[in-house]
Amino acid sequence: MKKILISPSILSGDFSQLGNEIKKLEKAGADMIHVDVMDGHFVPNLTIGPPVIKSLRKHTNLPFDVHLMISPVHRYIKNFAEAGSDIITIHPEATDNLDESINLIKSLGKKVGVSLNPNTPINIIEDFLSKIDLVLIMSVNPGFGGQKFMPEVLEKIKKINEIKIKKNMTFDIEVDGGINFDNSKSVIEAGANILVSGTTIFYDNKGDIKKNIDTLKTN
Ligand code: DX5
Ligand code: ZN
Repeated sequence: MKKILISPSILSGDFSQLGNEIKKLEKAGADMIHVDVMDGHFVPNLTIGPPVIKSLRKHTNLPFDVHLMISPVHRYIKNFAEAGSDIITIHPEATDNLDESINLIKSLGKKVGVSLNPNTPINIIEDFLSKIDLVLIMSVNPGFGGQKFMPEVLEKIKKINEIKIKKNMTFDIEVDGGINFDNSKSVIEAGANILVSGTTIFYDNKGDIKKNIDTLKTN
């Protein structure tokens, strides 16, 4: 059986307590920490930037899975790398030259992720798959936590997984948006091996994050 990793999104955490939230997530069995960076331009919401990531770095040894929803992204990649990101995920629409941005992330010694919005087709990234460590499939339109999972993306997860198997590739398939106990199984069956979750992890079962992480993994 493939190993399922959980990447809780701190977007649903208490922003006045982020250091403690991350420690709690680590203790509860999180595999990495998903950091949603939004610029009020690429998406209609604003969150945090490199200084916050830098100050959170000392609170955990877990990898920081940094999801950049900012445009133009290229000029900020170095700042996010230096702040302590481990995986840097970008959207193809947010850069003039996807190849250059991928190469920059790799040259900084970080894992590179590329994210596909619900309406973005796989063929945009197909030529780059051999250089990518992670494909992040959005199952909501990015911008806000707490949105409803779009079941039509299951087909896309299946397709990217088929390509991965056919070409004998090893990239992770991560899915982000509206993941809950009802859909996690179908997302995993479709081919995902990393689940992002904010609302379910922080609010389900009266905020029992350990139980919620365990249930997402084993459901
Ligand atoms: C959406 C973000 C997600 C989101 C996940 O733009 O990328 O990471 O916050 O949160 P839930 O699980 O609440 O959909
Ligand atoms: Zn995200």
